[in-house]
Amino acid sequence: MKAKISGKVSTVIKQFVLFLSIATSSTAYVEEAVIINPSTRFHPVYSMSGMVVSQEAVASHIGADILSKGGNAIDAAVATGFALSVTLPRAGNLAGGGFMMIHLAEQDRLIALDFREMAPSLAGRDMFIGDDGNVDNNLARYSIKSSGVPGSVAGLLHAHSKYGLLTLKDVIQPAVNIAKNGIEMTMDLAGSLKTKKSRLHKNEASKGYFYKDDGSLFKPGDNFIQKDLADTLVRIMDFGRSGFYQGKTADLIVEEMRRSGGLISYEDLKNYKVVERSPVCGTYKKNKVCAMPPPSSGGVHLIQMLNMLEEWDLQKLGHNSAAYIHRLVEVMRRAYADRSAYLGDPDFFNVPIDKITDKKYAKSLRKDIDLLKAGISTEVEPGLSLDINSLSKRIRKNNKESVETTHFSAWDQWGNVVSTTTTLNFSYGSGISVSGGGFLLNNEMDDFSAKPNSPNGFGLIGGIANAIEPKKRPLSSMTPTIVFDLNGRPLLTTGSPGGSTIITIVLQVVLNVLTFDMGIAEATAAPRIHHQWLPDRIFIESGISKDTLNILEVMGHKLSQRQSIMGSTQSIQKGPGVSIFGASDPRRDGAAAVPQRK
Ligand code: DON
Repeated sequence: MKAKISGKVSTVIKQFVLFLSIATSSTAYVEEAVIINPSTRFHPVYSMSGMVVSQEAVASHIGADILSKGGNAIDAAVATGFALSVTLPRAGNLAGGGFMMIHLAEQDRLIALDFREMAPSLAGRDMFIGDDGNVDNNLARYSIKSSGVPGSVAGLLHAHSKYGLLTLKDVIQPAVNIAKNGIEMTMDLAGSLKTKKSRLHKNEASKGYFYKDDGSLFKPGDNFIQKDLADTLVRIMDFGRSGFYQGKTADLIVEEMRRSGGLISYEDLKNYKVVERSPVCGTYKKNKVCAMPPPSSGGVHLIQMLNMLEEWDLQKLGHNSAAYIHRLVEVMRRAYADRSAYLGDPDFFNVPIDKITDKKYAKSLRKDIDLLKAGISTEVEPGLSLDINSLSKRIRKNNKESVETTHFSAWDQWGNVVSTTTTLNFSYGSGISVSGGGFLLNNEMDDFSAKPNSPNGFGLIGGIANAIEPKKRPLSSMTPTIVFDLNGRPLLTTGSPGGSTIITIVLQVVLNVLTFDMGIAEATAAPRIHHQWLPDRIFIESGISKDTLNILEVMGHKLSQRQSIMGSTQSIQKGPGVSIFGASDPRRDGAAAVPQRK
């Protein structure tokens, strides 16, 4: 651990250690840590026990309270997940899906929990193809048919029952309380409900749940009560899985399907399966990097890109220099070309994980990169020579705006670490709420490739590997990640929303920490770029110099004209001794890293 911390960070850490040796009680000094950390413009929150970092402060506090009560990181993450379904309804959810990476310190074990939505049994390959033969994007993104069978509740309950310490009541009751008694309407929530008003007003239930009786907006500071959601949470608390996938909640979901022409049946709900998968791990210099395997493309391409980058002296090129960004773009271009062909649900398609994450393959791809000139995406094809059809396990014949997802990280005093990303897909999912249930339905079916070469909501292209099939899980980019040090101890946990940009965001945070020696707050704040093969252009955040952009253009890169923010990482980094540093992304309002109180 020590060996990896050099330069600026080591100075900061020496000062921090000095500070710790003077300090006698952790809580009294939490606020002061930033003051003794003079050499960086961005400062993390620190703790000497546990921490929860999420995109919404009330949910982070609920998670941190669970740690203070003696819960472990899994309890805290589960409590945070349920709380986010109340406080961050555009992304936190009950009827979405997600992934959770769990590091169990004592057993030195890493679990990749897959609670991604599954296509309903009645789904079919061409279900979103309109009469004109093109993808009907409205149907795929905003109709009730865009909803996959929800996995979030099953996933959180699975994690809790297998790896948590506290009771189910302990971890759900806080969410029940805030749904029942109300939360203060924040600027962030009020603002996002304002932006999405016309879409949410199209659905009577959503209109009723998220706006005042006369349909007008809540104002910041108003008390926002979600009574039906509280009742659903109570059913989950009382009956566990069958409080959601059977009984009254299932009745409400199936009724909604019947009313609005959806496909999810009682059987689909009852048969929803959480899967524990083997994480995808690779090495980057002296570290081990582990992330979510398929049906996420995140882990595979994170490792692939790190492999391609490993042999260049990136630090010497300089952070966000043109030479550095050029290399990032070229490896992103190649990874996303592979994504379009080889990634899908591993239960339906033999994803060539080992081949894509092989360092020799990375070397062969890197050989084709011109260090002075931009590549051209139409000339870069998926790099493995494979017969795609032969990788399909079974294919049935005839049978593909503003977006939100959310990440949260938890770390406990025993060194257990949880990294979770969960989503409804778009902001507020399909916009359709289950009447009587109080929760929104996802529109995750749009993450399938509805038709080869037709881009989905994130401009991503896919083919057979990610074609729609009953009970299949749509390909995701969500990349909950845990990085380990030389001794196998967790060093960093991170993840982000951002659709197709998630993988490249996580890549840059990991590189900022491992290669550029940034502390987690600085690594989080640094400007980001993104390229995804198609469209062939670099997306850029503000904060990268015009001179650098000019050089990239001279090299032949096309830059997106619009600068926008990318993602919202919620990360925790190991400090010296028992200390940990947390950073919530400053890109979105209302996020918080909250340390455990002793
Ligand atoms: O699973 C995926 O890759 C997408 N459904 C994630 C969507 C997303 O991140 C939107 N948020 N900004």
